[in-house]
Formats: sequence, structure tokens, C-alpha cells
Amino acid sequence: MKQLALFTLDEEKPVKTDEWGTFKDSLRAPIHNWFTYPAGFSYKAVEASLNTHSITTGQIVYDPFMGTGTTNLTAKRLGINSYGVEAHPFVYRIARTKLNWDIKEDRVVTAVAYIESWVRDQRKNLNGDLRNHLRQEFPELILKCYEDRTLFDLLLIREAITNGNFPADMRDFLFVGLTSLLRQVSTAATGWPYIAPKKQKTTSLEKDALFEFSRLIFRMMQDILITRFEAHPDYPNTFHAIYNGDSRNTEGLVPSGRVDHVFTSPPYLNNFDYADRTRLELYFFGEARSWGDITQNIRTKLITSATTQITRDSPRYQLSDNLHKACPEVYDFLSESVTQLSKLRLTKGGKKSYNLLVSGYFNDMFLILADVYRVLKSEATAVFVLGDSAPYGVHIPTDELIGKIGIAVGFSEYHLDILRERGGKWKDNPQRHDVKLRESIVTLRKS
Ligand SMILES: C[S@@+](CC[C@H](N)C(=O)[O-])C[C@H]1O[C@@H](n2cnc3c(N)ncnc32)[C@H](O)[C@@H]1O
Repeated sequence: MKQLALFTLDEEKPVKTDEWGTFKDSLRAPIHNWFTYPAGFSYKAVEASLNTHSITTGQIVYDPFMGTGTTNLTAKRLGINSYGVEAHPFVYRIARTKLNWDIKEDRVVTAVAYIESWVRDQRKNLNGDLRNHLRQEFPELILKCYEDRTLFDLLLIREAITNGNFPADMRDFLFVGLTSLLRQVSTAATGWPYIAPKKQKTTSLEKDALFEFSRLIFRMMQDILITRFEAHPDYPNTFHAIYNGDSRNTEGLVPSGRVDHVFTSPPYLNNFDYADRTRLELYFFGEARSWGDITQNIRTKLITSATTQITRDSPRYQLSDNLHKACPEVYDFLSESVTQLSKLRLTKGGKKSYNLLVSGYFNDMFLILADVYRVLKSEATAVFVLGDSAPYGVHIPTDELIGKIGIAVGFSEYHLDILRERGGKWKDNPQRHDVKLRESIVTLRKS
């Protein structure tokens, strides 16, 4: 296994790949940066992969873990068609909005003028105790994250968007603008992975939410104008078929044997709870009011990657017979690790069900790999950006195991490249251990 073997765009300049698995580059790019998704990856990695695998206009790329649409947005910009599947409804909506570049400037100006005037009018109508009013609308967590006046403005903007007579795509656009504002004007530390209402940040104290909202919406419009101008001239003829669904089985959504390239990053086996990342947003928009709502509406729909998703007696978290039949070598390795973890957990304070987590993760990845194989054309490649892990110090070499499962579902070869070793992504890992971890690229080829 070597470093940086696959991706070289320009022989003169060495490509810096150590941040490809992070969202840093995307945070500096128009449209990509509309929503800070810490689980997202770099659009530069997508560009490099499309380039390396000679994917051009008219061809099709697919991302089975679409997230906020980095792969699809990059493809559209380059005049390439795309499919995408994302199980988290809120994250899917962000991707859908980022892929719509048909928003018109004059309609944006009218929408912002309407919202500004509506919010100013409503501010005057507030009778009685503001805190009481807010308490009826929002769970405690939201109340703790904002100054009352700011939260009241955010609520009014939300109501203006919901009740205004906007077409669906404009409502999405305004919704993403408001979503983007939520963490900017919060007085609490709302960073990844968890919200800490007790930690106060001072930078947002003076911000006027309505002013910031209008500014953001105009900046988003500007992003669309820049992107339309810079994109490949064929982009208006491309299609981007994206679904809020489950990539373990996409029959009926993504046709068999049509896709030229897959570029994706599955959830890592590192116990981060993706559903929890959007807790602030879901609570604010009234899409969930409790941990239970988030579990029912989101956690259960995602592939297993955090112990918070697990119900102990479900067969979903026992290594599957299908995995056994298809790939006994991986099954045996995992069985041993799972047995070790089921003993180890009893000796630890938190008694985390890492044994079930590992089983559930690989059962799910087995289904995903089989589905990815189905949709690819022959001679095509699938690229997975992923990290390995070491729950309770038991090393699970995810990249190699995914490569081997790939062979078992029909791929003819796999290749591993290391992006970085034990980077910042693991600094916050609650599972302290000495195992050296890595973030890798697994490339699978269908013959
Ligand atoms: C590492 S993130 C990918 C982020 C994406 N590359 C981006 O830049 O926004 C993995 C994504 O997979 C999604 N996911 C998890 N289980 C899924 C499933 N069964 N089907 C489709 N998407 C799923 C998660 O919600 C998460 O958004």
C-alpha cells in the first residue's frame, strides 16, 4: 500500500490529499459551503477521481452516500450526469437545493423583500412574555442556544418562509439560507459533534438575524451566478437523479449497468452519530422534538455506524449468513473481533456494544457493495473514501475488508491508497487507544 498513488492532476504540483476526507476545501467553494457538513468531503477529491478515471461529459457518476451532494454538484459543474442516494431527509433536502441552479435573481429579491417586511410587521405584534411564547414553540435545547430576540426573529423568518406563497424550489432555497444562519447566530458552541449550550461564544452576540439572513440569501444567489458562469457549457443538458432513500438496495432508482463511476464516502466505523449532527436544525424546524423522534425518523434509516442506533436484540446486528457464504475470510476475521469485543465491553465502564456495531456495519456495507456492483458498467471503477477504527483498541482494517468484500460481490480487483494517517479527525475520538489509524481510498474495478 502506498501514498498518493492514484491521483495526480498536474505533474508539476504535488496534490495535497491529506484533507480530501474532510470538508475544508468545500467550505471555501461556492454552493458547496451553503451547509457546513462535517461528514462531507472535499470537492477536489471528486474532481481528481473523475479526472483520473477519465469520466467526461455525457457519462454518469453515482454517490450512494450522497450527503449534501458534493459528488453530484462537482459532476454538474463539469457537465457530467449523476445519481445520488441519501437516507437522511434533512441532508437530502440540502443536496436537492444545491443542485438547483435555476433560481432567478428577481424572484430572490422579491422573496427577501417580502420576508423582511413581514418579519418587521410581526415583530410589532408581539404581546406578552417573549420567553413564554418561544417556550411553546421550541424544546429547551433551542432556547439555550439563542438570545430570545434572535430566536424570535429566526422563528418569524421560518414562519414567513412556510406561510409565504413561494414555489417549492424557492422555499427550499430560503430554507437552506435559514439553516445556514442557525449556527452562525447561536450564542452557544454548536460545533461538531455535539452542541454544548453551556459553552457560550461571543462572536454572534451582536448579529441581527434578519439582516444576516438577507445577506446570506443574496450571497447564495451570487454563488449560483458564479457557478453558472464557470460551469461546463453542457451542464444544462445533464441530469441529476437524486433520491431520499436507502443505498443498500436502489433497484428501481438507479438502473443496472449504466453507471460509469462511483465516488463516495460511507459513514466511518467511528461511532459518530450522523442523526445527532442535525439535532439543532431538526428541533428548530419542528421536524423532531426528542431523541426518540430522531431515532425513529433518522437513526433507523442509516447504515449502522454508531452504537446509538443499535437495539440489542435485533438480528440486524449479528454477522449475516449472506456475508458468511460470500466471503468466509472476512466473516471469520470479523467473528473473531466481534467475540473479542463482546468480552471486552463487559470490562469497560460504558459497556458500549461495539461488537454489534461492527457486525451491523459490515452487514450493511456488504449490501451496499453488491448494489454498487449491480449499477456499474463493466470496466468501471468504484472509489470509496473511508477510515478504519479500533473500538476498545481492537483494530478493524475497514479498507482491506471492504476491498475483500468487493471481490466477493464480483469486482475483479481492488487497490488501496492511504490519504493520511491518524489525522485530526481522530483527535476527538472518545475511544483512546494506541492503534495507528488511517484514512484510505479503496478503488474497486468491475471487469
Ligand atoms: C460520510 S457522509 C457523506 C457526505 C458527502 N460525501 C458530502 O460531501 O456531503 C455519509 C452519508 O451517508 C448517509 N447514509 C447513511 N446510511 C445511508 C443509507 N443506508 N443510504 C443512503 N445514505 C446513507 C449519511 O446520512 C451521511 O450523510
